[in-house]
Amino acid sequence: MNQAPAKCNMVCQRTMILLRRGTVRNYTFYNYTSGYIHQCLVDGLEYDTKYYYKIDSGDSYREFWFQTPPKINPDIPYKFGIIGDLGQTYNSLSTLEHYMQSGAQAVLFVGDLAYADRYMYNDVGIRWDTWGRFVERSAAYQPWMWSAGNHEIEYMPDMGEVIPFKSYLNRYPTPHLASKSSSPLWYAIRRASAHIIVLSSYSPFVKYTPQWEWLRKELKRVDREKTPWLIVLMHVPIYNSNEAHFMEGESMRAVFEEWFVHYKVDVIFAGHVHAYERSYRISNIHYNVSGGDCYPVADKSAPVYITVGDGGNQEGLAERFRDPQPDYSAFREASYGHSTLEIKNKTHALYHWNRNDDGKKVSTDAFVLHNQHWLYLHRGSNLRRRKLKKHHLRRVVDWASSF
Ligand SMILES: [Fe+2]
Repeated sequence: MNQAPAKCNMVCQRTMILLRRGTVRNYTFYNYTSGYIHQCLVDGLEYDTKYYYKIDSGDSYREFWFQTPPKINPDIPYKFGIIGDLGQTYNSLSTLEHYMQSGAQAVLFVGDLAYADRYMYNDVGIRWDTWGRFVERSAAYQPWMWSAGNHEIEYMPDMGEVIPFKSYLNRYPTPHLASKSSSPLWYAIRRASAHIIVLSSYSPFVKYTPQWEWLRKELKRVDREKTPWLIVLMHVPIYNSNEAHFMEGESMRAVFEEWFVHYKVDVIFAGHVHAYERSYRISNIHYNVSGGDCYPVADKSAPVYITVGDGGNQEGLAERFRDPQPDYSAFREASYGHSTLEIKNKTHALYHWNRNDDGKKVSTDAFVLHNQHWLYLHRGSNLRRRKLKKHHLRRVVDWASSF
């Protein structure tokens, strides 16, 4: 945005005008200086209400709108889109236009936004600008939950730029303070009936690091009675059977997989690999180097792992999968697309992978996701019922044998 600093004016459906003063700043990258970046925190909004907002004033103002989410409720339906590794090519445009036909209300973005780091000097900043204009058609009207990928790091010492994530952090702030995170790179939000945890694959995460300490506490803060759906986003997939980036998620798996299983995460979305892949519910937490299983096994408490790195960037598709397909891999294909997760209530959600080549609304990998928390409670009550029945039968047998 190249306007001078301005106030953010908001109008809701009932034509109440809210005035909030934001901040404005710019940053430099090599010899590039960004336009003014406005940031405005608006509190006190009504749930489920459409608000219009204006940037700047006078003849040059631009007006947009957004819909606030419904109040947190375990049974409230909500539809998320999942997009990763988008870039700014014809395929990126196709993915974005298909996504916008999906009717989803918010985007869970799994990293690698603009691919600006494939350019040099001032073109890095210019490519961030063009990407911002490209996604504005959706991102100005609904929330995109950002997570950082390797293309956001931009460690470019030849150009004198060595501060990681400089462009990304300046342009895409996240509400990390609200979830007690010390960094915008990892945070959590609650929306409708979902608790979404965003992790950073490229920040320290081993034991005692800030991200590790934060996640340990955040998982305890999740209240599945209020937000039954627990979703995790990261850039590097933990389970991936593509030749591209094979095993890159292994270090995070070794640290966090046990927690994901213990807390019964419903689904983990990742990007990075420019293809689509979905796992079965599996875990490999028994592997401990010195003994035990060293291969993923079926685990009902484990999340489903889904890689949606097929947004359409200029690096192309990752077409070489490892052969044969491992047992843990349920579906895999190198085609451009995006996914949607349509939460119906506290127990069921519909998941779709939408391949761009198939037209607007044709899905190719779809299934009903059963909520892990409620499924566990149900399984638990069934188990209790079976135990009670067994106990009752034993008493009947004891009583009969006493004669
Ligand atoms: Fe990546």
